Amino acid sequence: MNTKVTVIGAGNVGATAAQRLAEKQLCDVVLVDVNEDMPKGKALDLSQAAPVECHDSKLIGTSDYSYTKDSDVIIITAGIPRKPGMSRDELIETNSNIMKDVTAKACEQSPDATLIIVSNPLDAMCQIALKTSGFKKNKVIGMAGVLDSARFKTFISRELDVSVENIEAFVLGGHGDTMVPLPRFTTVAGIPVTELIDPKRLDEIVDRTRTGGAEIVSLLKTGSAYYAPASSAVEMTKAILFDKKKIMPCAAYLEGEYGINGIFMGVPVKLGKNGIEQIIEIKLKDDEKEALDKSARAVEDLVKGLNI
Ligand code: LAC
Repeated sequence: MNTKVTVIGAGNVGATAAQRLAEKQLCDVVLVDVNEDMPKGKALDLSQAAPVECHDSKLIGTSDYSYTKDSDVIIITAGIPRKPGMSRDELIETNSNIMKDVTAKACEQSPDATLIIVSNPLDAMCQIALKTSGFKKNKVIGMAGVLDSARFKTFISRELDVSVENIEAFVLGGHGDTMVPLPRFTTVAGIPVTELIDPKRLDEIVDRTRTGGAEIVSLLKTGSAYYAPASSAVEMTKAILFDKKKIMPCAAYLEGEYGINGIFMGVPVKLGKNGIEQIIEIKLKDDEKEALDKSARAVEDLVKGLNI
């Protein structure tokens, strides 16, 4: 393959992302972890699935960043996941240090890569990656909105018993309890969802979307979700590698868009070979803008303590 993606963190999200990238034949994959042997084992195991899955993506597992040289995309999943009862924000101390370390090592090898950040608390980790890498803001993107929207779409599809493919949905804001699912921009085969689901039931679905990550943590008990987060990061990677110019909700560094300045927030962006090629500004209603501002304040409070 002539495209190369590095996945940092060979835990559940990282290994699942590596598997999906390889099995969709999107690129060669370097799976990196602080642990030396474990990523080697996972990459070897995934490679041995290749003759059965019929793909020719090459997979390397390593703790040596020199193998990651000249990656097109770097997906950072490194860090600890939350346990039941924890918020994403409680991970900040441990994961900040991990984020600084891995970003510096990876970006030294691949100065032209696009970074996709998955580690939590997402919006704060993006800010650390932007600062540490010194990359332009369009090359540092957070994975949250694709996942949160996917959860919203899943619940709507179950509610209406229709194909998930019929549903378009947008979730804006930070990747936390203040995220902003937007029913007004959510459609089922082009029909506004507000025409199909009554407001009370829709509110319940919005609430379940907001706490979608915590619901899975409480069931797994030993970690957080990984299948849908990995799928979401892979979808973003594909849009970049194939220069698709695809609009999806991602965490982007805002400098005045939506009246927000100097933090990462989930907004609709166009993804292509240059990373974020455009931030799409939609006119929000007062209550939607208020919810987005509340979410921005939560992210601002979190990054204030970071000293970056
Ligand atoms: C979640 C984690 C990955 O939302 O943030 O499941």
